[in-house]
Amino acid sequence: ALPEPFTVPLPIPPVARPASTDDGRDLYDLVQREADIEILPGLKTRVWGYDGLFPGPTFTARTGRPSTVRVLNTLPVPTATHLHGGVTPPDSDGYPTDLLLPLGCTPGRRKDLLETQRNGHAMHVAPSDWNVREGYRTYEYPLNQRAATLWYHDHRMDFSAPQVWRGLAGFFLVRDDEEDALPLPRGQRDIPLMLCDRAFDADGTFRYPALDPTCTGTPGVHDAFMDGVLGDVQLVNGAPWPVLEVSGTRYRLRLLNASNARRYQLALEVESGGRGTFTRIGSDAGLLATPQRLANLTLAPAERMDVIVDFSAYPVGSQVTLVNTLGERSMRQVMRFCIVRREKDDSTVPARLPRMETLSSNDAVAVRRFDFRRTEGGDDQQMWTINGRPFGTATTLASPRLGTVERWRFSSDFHHPVHVHLAHFQVLARGGRPPRASDAGWKDTVDVRPYEVVDVLARFDGYRGRYMVHCHNLEHEDMAMMANFQIV
Ligand code: C2O
Ligand code: CU
Repeated sequence: ALPEPFTVPLPIPPVARPASTDDGRDLYDLVQREADIEILPGLKTRVWGYDGLFPGPTFTARTGRPSTVRVLNTLPVPTATHLHGGVTPPDSDGYPTDLLLPLGCTPGRRKDLLETQRNGHAMHVAPSDWNVREGYRTYEYPLNQRAATLWYHDHRMDFSAPQVWRGLAGFFLVRDDEEDALPLPRGQRDIPLMLCDRAFDADGTFRYPALDPTCTGTPGVHDAFMDGVLGDVQLVNGAPWPVLEVSGTRYRLRLLNASNARRYQLALEVESGGRGTFTRIGSDAGLLATPQRLANLTLAPAERMDVIVDFSAYPVGSQVTLVNTLGERSMRQVMRFCIVRREKDDSTVPARLPRMETLSSNDAVAVRRFDFRRTEGGDDQQMWTINGRPFGTATTLASPRLGTVERWRFSSDFHHPVHVHLAHFQVLARGGRPPRASDAGWKDTVDVRPYEVVDVLARFDGYRGRYMVHCHNLEHEDMAMMANFQIV
């Protein structure tokens, strides 16, 4: 049975501890393993988790200090780990065919697993493009990037959606001196909130409409789920409709939409009636130049928003509920904050946050179009495509030059949250109009709505090599709505 909303305390994922901190870098060991954990009270759910946790441990890193993450895969399936929002060299970016096979694979099993991948959407990928490891894989994250709320998750070709659904996602926070110098809430009052929906069977097992629930055979979901898979249980940090006791002070909430396909429009409902407000200070890729007061926050899959909520506005003993005004029935509620005491608050929200460069359309050296749409394949088959093509044809849709800015235009027939690896961007226009307030800041994912055209200015900084642009509705992604670009 599902719990009464707002009875389960909000869990905070543990912070990952480095195995060593020598040579100016932090080395972490991360074990992908199965675990039976209690998500619904009194029931066990088998998760595939980083360190057996869902969400995985939270990494805390500093700008310019590299992290090395050595992943050990003890799951029954291959994986690929992507640091979302990371400015990461291509060979550590978790490219979907850079697979990590399970530890201790027998040759027969190895052959079967690779057969499965080659029969999937990557069937046209050249043999030399399969970069497969077994047991361990080491990911290098130089982290020459601004402070930001990043996250890491599975990116295995054809199977990201069911594998993230089972738990392969966690926070990766980058901090820097500029941010530390600001009087923002910190410590216990700086809270990452991973929002995602899930569905469960009566025995507590995750319910997901996979064609092959073992994730070792045919990829994909039943036809009825072409648009994406939604759950009927709202989780925050892996707990159903949780509650958090807070003091009557400011809190920094790092909101992440880690759902496969669900969009949120978040608002704060105050017990006495009326709405609270968010002070938004950050976007996907770091702090804004100036805070924004917003009553609603739209969060498409993979987007993040950093907000300050000031609970001093509410009496002790009162409650503030975070709701999703797009959610139907029980999915309208997300979590609740109970104000339980007064406390001293040294934090403030400065009127100016760190300087942020604003790109202009004159900076763009090229304009490129990416059309995200459902296309008729052969045999009456429907596919999700970019510029009419599914991923896997070894094509490159763009070759931006390192260090340049380009204007990328995304058009769409449906809701597609468009994510670009490596390059951060600023939203320039929606449907030829100025972007909405919540589009402000550096981003790596943008919410493209049905029949909308969104223009972004992307800067291709960091590394040369092959990266991808894709839809972050994870079912669309698994249905090959991905494309390569090559930074030259
Ligand atoms: Cu968050 Cu390519 O993904
Ligand atoms: Cu999509």
